[in-house]
Amino acid sequence: MNLVEKIKKSIDVSQYNGVEKVVLAYSGGVDTSVLVRLIQEVCDADVITLTLDLGQKEYKKKDLKAMEEKAHALGAKKHFFIDAKSEFVDGYISKAVKANSLYQGQYPNSTALGRPLIAKHLVETAEKEGAQAVAHGCTGKGNDQVRFDISVLSLKPDLKIIAPVRDWDLKRDEEMEYAKEGNIPVPVSEGSPYSVDANMWGRSVECGVLEKPHEEAPEDVFEWCVLPEKAPDEAKKVKLHFKQGELCSVEADDSSVNDKVGMVALLNQVAGENGVGMIDHMEDRTIGLKSREIYECPAATVILKAHADLEKYIHTKEENEFKPVVDKLWSECVYKGLWYSPLMNSLNAFVEESQKHVTGWVKLKLYKGNAQVIARSSDYALYDYGLATYNRGTTFNQKDSLGFIKLWGLNTVIANKVRK
Ligand code: ARG
Repeated sequence: MNLVEKIKKSIDVSQYNGVEKVVLAYSGGVDTSVLVRLIQEVCDADVITLTLDLGQKEYKKKDLKAMEEKAHALGAKKHFFIDAKSEFVDGYISKAVKANSLYQGQYPNSTALGRPLIAKHLVETAEKEGAQAVAHGCTGKGNDQVRFDISVLSLKPDLKIIAPVRDWDLKRDEEMEYAKEGNIPVPVSEGSPYSVDANMWGRSVECGVLEKPHEEAPEDVFEWCVLPEKAPDEAKKVKLHFKQGELCSVEADDSSVNDKVGMVALLNQVAGENGVGMIDHMEDRTIGLKSREIYECPAATVILKAHADLEKYIHTKEENEFKPVVDKLWSECVYKGLWYSPLMNSLNAFVEESQKHVTGWVKLKLYKGNAQVIARSSDYALYDYGLATYNRGTTFNQKDSLGFIKLWGLNTVIANKVRK
């Protein structure tokens, strides 16, 4: 029995009645290539492929014309390629920076941030083309299915979502056989033992030997970062300028870049060369699985570190105590697929308001895997040299502290007396 017959036997195909056109999120990898053909056969529908450029380095090298031709060769009725790099920086990455976004304190949410944007374009394309369904290649084990499905349904609740790998329980070897039988050209890079997702905010790698957390990730996992021990012996300094929480220019060596996509690309380059941005994370997925994830996020690591340092310099003690609570919730919403949730809107409003004075610069030293903040400056800093200095001429009256300590400690001192 071939794969199509097997699938048709195991599911209720009548659920696809009325589905004439499907927009598929298409990366050009094995899964989505196979899906172009499989969806046509199982659902008896036309497939339209959609590829988004979110700054994945691979797409720079890729022959976009060839990708389109391949989609058509697989039977896609139309193929769309959208350059969404600027939109990704403006609407997603810059918000993540303002919210110091690190899921579980470590993962910059790089894959997670791209999903609601891809979902938005899937929905828009479906509307434009009069499609009744959208499709994606996510498995039933990961976070991405959660993010795609909730985002799509939040934007257009009457769209059908087809996730063949999950819904039809596809196995990799079956897919390969189907590809072979149907002469579906499988990309050569798919000899890779890893599952990779990338955009300009980071590269995520899973599977293969990485599934053994007690074993060190082999060097061939890393493509954006050199191992720290192989990084240059000389440190590289970079200066990042922010305006109201947004990165507005990057200085490295004698050059200065202020194009928003270019700044991220430059930092991916220089930080990666210095071994900065490798993350080995035991992660709690939304669906409850724990998994070992390897990330390469050189630009994100540097930008987030700089932003957090500057913000702390400018915010009051109370703001510095409270904002991390919002930041943590923000990151969790993004990770768990709740980009389009009401709570997210409220959190964004707070975060945006909190950035009004986050303007200034931060200098960092990149050296053998480490990104270290070495200086910062802002017209809005609450730091006051006159108050802070231990030298003559200070404006701080040390004697004021005496009365403060008496009142501040009153409760503790009384409690200890009573409970003796
Ligand atoms: N664990 C990360 C996340 O959930 C990365 C997922 C990578 N996705 C992939 N298809 N390889 O955001």
